[in-house]
Amino acid sequence: MFNSKIVAFSKYVPEKIVTNNDLSEIVDTSDEWIFSRTGIKERRVSTSENTSEVCAKAAEASIIKAGVSPDEIELIITATMTPDYSSPSTACIIQKLIGAKKAVSFDLSAACSGFVFALCAADKFIKTGAFKNALVIGGEVTSKVIDWSDRGTCVLFGDGAGACVIKQGKGGGIIAEDLHSDGERFDSLTSLYTPVNNPYHKEGGEGFNRLTMDGREIFNFATRKVPESIAAVLQKANISSEDIKYIVPHQANSRIVEIISRKMKIPMDKFFMNMDRYGNTSAASIPIALAELSDMGLIKEKDKLIITGFGGGLTWGSAIIEL
Ligand code: ACO
Repeated sequence: MFNSKIVAFSKYVPEKIVTNNDLSEIVDTSDEWIFSRTGIKERRVSTSENTSEVCAKAAEASIIKAGVSPDEIELIITATMTPDYSSPSTACIIQKLIGAKKAVSFDLSAACSGFVFALCAADKFIKTGAFKNALVIGGEVTSKVIDWSDRGTCVLFGDGAGACVIKQGKGGGIIAEDLHSDGERFDSLTSLYTPVNNPYHKEGGEGFNRLTMDGREIFNFATRKVPESIAAVLQKANISSEDIKYIVPHQANSRIVEIISRKMKIPMDKFFMNMDRYGNTSAASIPIALAELSDMGLIKEKDKLIITGFGGGLTWGSAIIEL
């Protein structure tokens, strides 16, 4: 078995900033309602770039930082719930955009947990020696699937991408992981349903739905399952939360993070949050946060971090990464 080392976190977010006040001109809402319920102040919205393009920009920055050339990349895994197409995968389009001609490329669908799942999958390919390096990307253009007339969801989401390179290396990498799905509750969060529709069977209704979410259900699920998952990885790694530099949760809602902090008796300053500036960017939220921690010089070699995601599927999971 080889070891995997995670290097070079990067992010890209579209230029256009949409504030809570801007949204109050589209739907019946207010900055006060959105900020007090979610911690979100503003988000980025793509005015032209599709998911493959925002991902490619984050990916390019990441491979430059990692000091690898595009044609040395052996594997690309893209976590997204807003792909450009059902087929081809967004990862294949990114492969073309960045010129990673030799990479095996595919998408992974686990909504807001997608980056955690993708990083854990890439880690296995590296550890078994199947590939020497991988580009792992979480990216979304959620603005193309949200219902802009539904104030309950359109205020929550944002667009962007984050990426990292993972290489065979000495020490570090993913030292514990804990991944879960609960398909029984798949309909708590759905987007873009494609019904059976052919000359032999016509299902009624639209073949396209905007994002729907049972916010309360997701809130309750997250505040119950995320603490269990963080506790599980700490136990598997046989370390305490004091050994962890930062916990990087999926950036859905600051109240969810406050409840997790209280339940686990882990101080809030250990949780990194940036949803005030980007909203919920689904699979992109954790790698964007990792890139910001890295750009701000807040993390260094040998630091241990917990990343923890939750979302549609339902899916949830955590990993301890040693840099
Ligand atoms: N502005 C003003 N009022 C609003 C808005 C809005 N944007 N949205 C809803 N309301 C109103 C509702 O209509 C309701 O009014 P009523 O009482 O007159 O019926 C009232 O506010 C309360 O609505 P709730 O939905 O009960 O509000 P709640 O306090 O539960 O907060 C929220 C809603 C913020 C969505 C919360 O449930 C939440 O954050 N859930 C978690 C979502 C999440 O984490 N998603 C992550 C996974 S996403 C993924 O996987 C892609």
